[in-house]
Amino acid sequence: MEKIVIEGCHSLSGTISIGGAKNSAVALIPAALLADGECLIDNVPNITDRDALFDIVKHLNGDIVQNGKEIKINSQNLNNILISEELSVRLRASYYFMGVLLGKYKHVEMYFPGGCNIGSRPIDLHLKGFEALGAKVTKKGHKYILDAKDLHGADITLDFASVGATINIMFAASLAKGTTTIHNAAKEVEIINIMDFLNNMGAKITGAGTDTIVICGVEKLHGANIKVIPDRIEAGTYILVGALLGDNLKVEGIIKEHNEALFAKLKQMGVNYKFVDDGVILNKVEKLKPVDVKTLVYPGFPTDLGQPMSVLLTQAEGVSKMEETIWENRVGHYPYLIKMGAKIEVEGVKATIYGKSPLKGTEIHATDLRAGAALILAGLIAEGTTTIYDIDYILRGYENIIHKLSNVGAKIKIEKI
Ligand code: EPZ
Repeated sequence: MEKIVIEGCHSLSGTISIGGAKNSAVALIPAALLADGECLIDNVPNITDRDALFDIVKHLNGDIVQNGKEIKINSQNLNNILISEELSVRLRASYYFMGVLLGKYKHVEMYFPGGCNIGSRPIDLHLKGFEALGAKVTKKGHKYILDAKDLHGADITLDFASVGATINIMFAASLAKGTTTIHNAAKEVEIINIMDFLNNMGAKITGAGTDTIVICGVEKLHGANIKVIPDRIEAGTYILVGALLGDNLKVEGIIKEHNEALFAKLKQMGVNYKFVDDGVILNKVEKLKPVDVKTLVYPGFPTDLGQPMSVLLTQAEGVSKMEETIWENRVGHYPYLIKMGAKIEVEGVKATIYGKSPLKGTEIHATDLRAGAALILAGLIAEGTTTIYDIDYILRGYENIIHKLSNVGAKIKIEKI
């Protein structure tokens, strides 16, 4: 077991480079099994979710060769066996093996996926999509068995613009007989990255990034290459660090268009940022204006940045409101921010945040991945020492976070408990 120890109130200068997007990579890795032949995925982030997926690919006897951020995957010797509960529950994205193995082998057996406890996280939209394509879904306790004599094209309208369901249906529909249209599809940019990978394999998909995606099924998919796009949530997290403590802090390797909603809010608050080549330079300002934030599906303000953003709101001079509309339990960080001295009234998924509240270091716990990120931001600005427990959540989604922050002057380290 380990903990993160932070000594707060140090200005941060220098450059933080952004890695590949977790929420792209966790779909691209399973997707490689759709191909007959070797796939190469570049810019894969060094996060524990990646390792959990590698364990599942190896469990299925998939070939993986890792060379730093470049991964080669080949499904030539794949055994489509049951994916154990132990493997399925290690992360939410294990559900992508459903769409991939159903699409390629017309059969998959695995358990309900895991993931951070930010809500009930049902997969009904995924399963309804698979049934529309002709699959039979059998549920035995937490185990799912999906079978299809054949998969055929379908017209599918998602009740909610679910990222995972959109991607999973794309996977299965790529090798179905006929054309599938997904209406009310999620528009997150990671879906474009996945469409590009599948099309590089010979799939015929259009419309990713819009709310209507058309997939013309093909017989087979061949090996292909793809590069993981920059992680807009990692980028947003460090941009918020720069807003809080930047002294010419540069966040580089970003696609600024992917964070438009965040920059719009930072501008309203009076945050000092300047775009340079493929990055942004941030400088802390003394007076920040309060602002109201409501998380929405893309291109709205991303739910994954709501928790880190709430820390910046504690430093604004006035009353801000934060409302989480995607997940019903993405509030685990608030009690710890309050313990540190923040003045926050929480009602369900809505929070009223009274600033400017000086924070004091203390002992706190990460309750989920992005709550953990928020607590790191809080520790960086708090007076004194902050100790964060349950840090495995954080290491799932932030590549080399201790190194990246120490490199720009943060006094932060991991210690054994
Ligand atoms: C992806 O989760 C991301 N995870 C999440 O990031 C992100 O918060 C979310 O998209 C929204 O952007 C990965 O990509 C691995 P959804 P996903 O399906 O696909 C409901 C992080 O911090 N829903 O878009 O699971 C669901 O309950 C993680 O990196 C159903 O009701 O999200 C939720 O309320 C956290 N039935 C909403 O839709 C379903 O079948 C959004 O879910 C599926 C989803």
